[in-house]
Amino acid sequence: MNVMIGDMFNRVDGYIDALFAPEDAVLTAAQARARDAGLPDIQVSANQGKLLYLFTKLIGARHVLEIGTLAGYSTIWLARALPDDGRLITLELDPDHARVARDNLADAGLALKITVVTGPALDTLPTLEGAGAPPFDLVFMDADKVNFPSYLDWALKLARPGALILADNVIRAGKVLAPDDDDPSALGAAAFNRQIARNPRLEAVILQQVGIKGHDGLAVARIRD
Ligand code: SAH
Ligand code: DHB
Ligand code: MG
Repeated sequence: MNVMIGDMFNRVDGYIDALFAPEDAVLTAAQARARDAGLPDIQVSANQGKLLYLFTKLIGARHVLEIGTLAGYSTIWLARALPDDGRLITLELDPDHARVARDNLADAGLALKITVVTGPALDTLPTLEGAGAPPFDLVFMDADKVNFPSYLDWALKLARPGALILADNVIRAGKVLAPDDDDPSALGAAAFNRQIARNPRLEAVILQQVGIKGHDGLAVARIRD
């Protein structure tokens, strides 16, 4: 993966991956197909994928919504934590990414559990409302950070009381401390962070993360009962 932040952090990330999140043939093949298709190398790390998997299992989630599929790498980690009758919907803007993801998810044996919906999430989220999609137990946001505040509104609409909302890349190498006016991603993440901190319907925190994805953070928010 891309960002280098210091040899020790990267080596420890590799140490954690090797102990707790070794990639099997399916995950390795998914990464290879993404690389061959020229997709950006910005998926969650293996141990971040394992954390998504554990969160999904910990809350016993049956219905998961992901915003930002890329090649379906995080999708595989999330879906593997679902029970047999569990379902995942993942939203992806780019039809090329969605195609690679569908192939990866089919090869992972997860096609029956997962629906990849192509289009801008702000257009496809409204179609989930009243589409018979049951309230989500977990929402993972990992698409364009500028729209995180809007995705939060949708998550609050589509998820059940007690649901978990996770959001990747909400620290952005510390840029959220004082976002530049010309950095819409940092501005979006900072606005999102204020909203999850202040919304009385939520209890939340951010895990600061460092390693092969650089310096960033994962927001963890629970909708009150
Ligand atoms: N969750 C993936 C990585 C997602 S990268 C993983 O960890 O494996 C972010 C993805 O969000 C990209 O594929 C990008 O095309 C998609 N995206 C960007 N803007 C979007 C939008 N408005 N609606 C839906 N998806 C979007
Ligand atoms: C980018 C997006 C991500 O979701 C991520 O984890 C890292 C980088 C990006 O758009 O550069
Ligand atoms: Mg991300």
